[in-house]
Amino acid sequence: MEISCTFDILLSTISSFVPILICSALLLWFFLQWRPRHPRDKRLPPGSMGWPYIGETLELYSQNPNSFFSIRQKRYGNIFKTHILGCPCVMISSPEAAKIVLVSQAHLFKPTYPPSKEKMIGPEALFFHQGAYHSRLKKLVQASFVPSALRGSVPDIEKIVLGFLPTWDGSTVNALQEMKRYAFDVAMISAFGESLELEMEGIKELYRCLEKGYNSMPLDLPGTLFRRAIKARKLLNETLRKLIQQKRESSTSIQGGGGGGGGLLGALLGAKDQKLNHLTDSQIADNIIGVIFAAHDTTASVLTWVLKYLHDNGHLLEAVTREQEEIRGRIVEANRGLTWDDTRSMPLTSRVIQETLRRASILSFTFREAVQDVELEGYFIPKGWKVLPLFRTIHHSEDFFPEPHRFDPSRFEVPPRPNTYMPFGNGVHSCPGSALATFEGNLDGLKNMA
Ligand code: HEM
Repeated sequence: MEISCTFDILLSTISSFVPILICSALLLWFFLQWRPRHPRDKRLPPGSMGWPYIGETLELYSQNPNSFFSIRQKRYGNIFKTHILGCPCVMISSPEAAKIVLVSQAHLFKPTYPPSKEKMIGPEALFFHQGAYHSRLKKLVQASFVPSALRGSVPDIEKIVLGFLPTWDGSTVNALQEMKRYAFDVAMISAFGESLELEMEGIKELYRCLEKGYNSMPLDLPGTLFRRAIKARKLLNETLRKLIQQKRESSTSIQGGGGGGGGLLGALLGAKDQKLNHLTDSQIADNIIGVIFAAHDTTASVLTWVLKYLHDNGHLLEAVTREQEEIRGRIVEANRGLTWDDTRSMPLTSRVIQETLRRASILSFTFREAVQDVELEGYFIPKGWKVLPLFRTIHHSEDFFPEPHRFDPSRFEVPPRPNTYMPFGNGVHSCPGSALATFEGNLDGLKNMA
């Protein structure tokens, strides 16, 4: 009896300590996670790491992200630290420091994406890589989107726009949705080199599902958008594999081997490295999907902003209309279709697009991760920390763009200062689709005036 009583006391004493022990263990774990691990003599950038573990995530999500960045930039300067979404981060808003991260010391900062995004697009897409594999793919993608390669697509892209125009005539449309439809069709032509009548609707539907899941919470549970998107991604892979197989077979029977077909797919199919290794089906599929992803939403957003800024600035709309009417007159007179050179002779329209890219800065920043301990402009950045060059903050700096909130295309009559204008990024991972994106804008401007 006495023994069991002592045992009870012992048990109740221990059990009253259990919550304290668990809390202490959790606190210790939080502390270890959050505690800066860096040598004491090295200087981290100024800034606040916020609360243990959650850092400043709540502040970021409870206010306009632009204010979050600009308040801290004013308080701490062009390089500051913070802690968001479980990651210690360094934010960069000086052109010189951004150049170091993206260009001159790019090998020290690798691109970094959440694993769920990588899974959606496909882990072998070029965005996620550094080094030899990345540069091999980048050359192939770039070659498919240089002006000389795009020239041949002008009639096809013109045909797409001409197909859309009657559907917009006299009706109220959702500009962003329409620009998305247009940008998707152009992305498909660029990716496959031809219009895929048979497969188009199926691919569109799967892609739509994938896109919804990409922007949702990554919860792999029955019924979630994420789960549906993963399923759509698998089906998309199957469709692409069949297409790749067909192209491989047709090019073997016609040419006796090698690649074939047009667009990016043709370039990827024909690619061999020094050891004559072809790209695998999954490498090709991931990169086709990756390029469609990169080309679609970005271009559609910029086109929508162009429409908005022209709508808000009547004098510019008139001047752009005059410029476009002049070119249209020449085309009608010569009884010919639009050419690449026509789209190069629209100085005002081009400046409107440049200013839209600055003012709207649709890719506000990009993510990198330090691959080793790095020293940047006198500050220490520990290995594994995220580094974010803030394009939007640089594009909206008074120092480089006076009255930054004014929409003023004339500011591009003189070239911006080096490394202050980066709508397409900078360095090894800069956008290979910049010529196509601006061409789509010029063409859209021209046809909208028609
Ligand atoms: C106006 C529209 C567009 C904007 C604003 C834009 C912007 C950007 C930016 C800022 C980057 C660099 C990201 C980084 O450094 O992490 C990038 C990368 C990329 N963009 Fe675009 N982009 C646009 C349209 C396109 C188009 C039409 C294509 C189609 C080819 C494309 C394909 C890519 C690819 C494949 C990458 C990754 C390059 C790499 O990792 O080496 N983009 N884009």
